[in-house]
Amino acid sequence: MAVRGQFSSRLGFILAAAGSAVGLGNIWGFPTQVASNGGAAFVLVYLVLTFIVAYPILMAELVIGRHSQSNMVDALKKISAGNIAKKIGAGTGYWALIVVSLILSFYMIVAGWMIAYMFQAVTEVLGWSAASTWLTDFSISRNIIFSLIFALMTIVIVSRGVSSGIEKWSGRLMPMLLVLIVLLIIYVSMQAGASEGWKAYLVPDFSKVLNGDLILSAMGQAFFSLSLGVGSMLVYGSYVSKKENLVSLGASVALVDVGIAIMSGMLIIPAMYVALANGVTIFNEAGQLIGGDQLIFTVIPALFETMGGAGDYVSFVFFVLMTIAALTSSISMLEVPVAFTIESTKLERKGASWAIGIFVMLISLLLIFNFDVLFGLVISLTTQYSQPLLGLMLCIFTGWVWKRDSILQEIKQGADDVESSLFWKIWPGYVRFVCPSLILAMAYHTIFVG
Ligand code: TRP
Repeated sequence: MAVRGQFSSRLGFILAAAGSAVGLGNIWGFPTQVASNGGAAFVLVYLVLTFIVAYPILMAELVIGRHSQSNMVDALKKISAGNIAKKIGAGTGYWALIVVSLILSFYMIVAGWMIAYMFQAVTEVLGWSAASTWLTDFSISRNIIFSLIFALMTIVIVSRGVSSGIEKWSGRLMPMLLVLIVLLIIYVSMQAGASEGWKAYLVPDFSKVLNGDLILSAMGQAFFSLSLGVGSMLVYGSYVSKKENLVSLGASVALVDVGIAIMSGMLIIPAMYVALANGVTIFNEAGQLIGGDQLIFTVIPALFETMGGAGDYVSFVFFVLMTIAALTSSISMLEVPVAFTIESTKLERKGASWAIGIFVMLISLLLIFNFDVLFGLVISLTTQYSQPLLGLMLCIFTGWVWKRDSILQEIKQGADDVESSLFWKIWPGYVRFVCPSLILAMAYHTIFVG
């Protein structure tokens, strides 16, 4: 069995886990969802769900991971006492492996778009307009080439292992992304049309809040953005030292993730209205968003164009940082099946990373060739349906299967006084009763009420 890696410091973990959480979900997914689900109403529901459902499950993953020191399949077996529970645990773990591989397969396509736009900034400066057109036009050849490039980068990093690969890559450039987003928010606010965007983003239409589609999307988004349910956070938790306080680590990760999502909405939504004011078509006549998954690729370049000559340089930096943010997330996805494989077969990290990476690339190709049919379908099956249901299973395992005493012993390491804390007063009962009920209620609502 392979020796388990460990994050070298508290900051190393926060950066890696925040790196996993912050990615395309925040900057591509979140604003797109806000724009297609009624603006501020979506933001409100997303925030509430992150706080009341997603964060408690994040904690469950971190605690299970550090306690079991293993991948999700073995972890759920370890915390179960009886044979049946062990079987269900393993089954849940395998399901998670499938879901995370599917998520990675569509993620690589979107990340490929970021790389294409990064190159386009260069070809623009050079005046190679044919190349620029190819890079920004939606084509099978472009999608294949850039998702493969992204896949290769992901595989190379994961094959090098936790501390030398993942930790080094995560975090270094994230603060830069944050600074750039803040500067862009300031810039976009000064453009004509921005104030209408602020209104759409901040003033909720409460009549939409209980809409079934909106709740389903917000739930999927909350789970996706915090990388939940599939074992990414569980595996990262297994690499955290026993000296760390998991409660505060989890809270920091959730706060960073939500913060970046909200900020990217502050950039993209006003930018969308600025683009509208500049004559770009974004909505159709019925007021629906055209080509949702391409929204930021319409809006962001249109914003950079208003900057004159500087635009191409800003664009380059923006898409480089987006690519890196995507990488620190994709490595946390590939790590899930890779950790499982090296811990349960004789395969080494390197071989496992390549084998699984290539397999996921093949799924990606399938999605690219059948984009219109499969892309949206896979996203909704994985993020809106599977992730919350996997979250439900994690709640059941934490709340009903795993012994409460053993949970407390685990959390206590690195947090001596946790027993008297508000967290310990609320969380155990909460993941036992409230979280599962909320997920089930929402499932019921979307299926039967709509
Ligand atoms: N949370 C990341 C993002 O917002 C994506 C991600 C990483 C993810 N690991 C995951 C999503 C596991 C679902 C499951 O971009």
